[in-house]
Amino acid sequence: MTFMPWSEQFVLGIESIDRQHQWLVEAANTLHDQIELEQPDDAAMREILEGLADYTVNHFILEEDLFNRLGYPEAEEHKKEHDAFTHKIIHLLLDFEKGEAVTKDALEFLKPWLLHHILVVDKAYTPFLKEHGVK
Ligand code: FEO
Repeated sequence: MTFMPWSEQFVLGIESIDRQHQWLVEAANTLHDQIELEQPDDAAMREILEGLADYTVNHFILEEDLFNRLGYPEAEEHKKEHDAFTHKIIHLLLDFEKGEAVTKDALEFLKPWLLHHILVVDKAYTPFLKEHGVK
């Protein structure tokens, strides 16, 4: 069973952002599948974590750049959520680099965070961005 199936409810209707969210959800699924293996592969795990950290930062930059350019009033609060998540992902990667196993605990924050962030926090900016011509 897919850990976190992509669903229409995630779609904001802003193409570039939806594409990135889909990538992030798929990355969470890949991480889950790797953790579930009896013998997780270190190289694959590193690739997933580095990709997740890198892509997440770039995704947040895209959103925050739009907020700054368009004057989104909730930008500050939204950015705090981004910063907290980035902090966790980077720590996960650093712990892995130190030789600590990546366990299901990692997924305990990843899935609910992504669900809440996309479905509630990101959805909250959608009307504002669309009103300002973002497609
Ligand atoms: Fe799509 Fe605010 O992250």
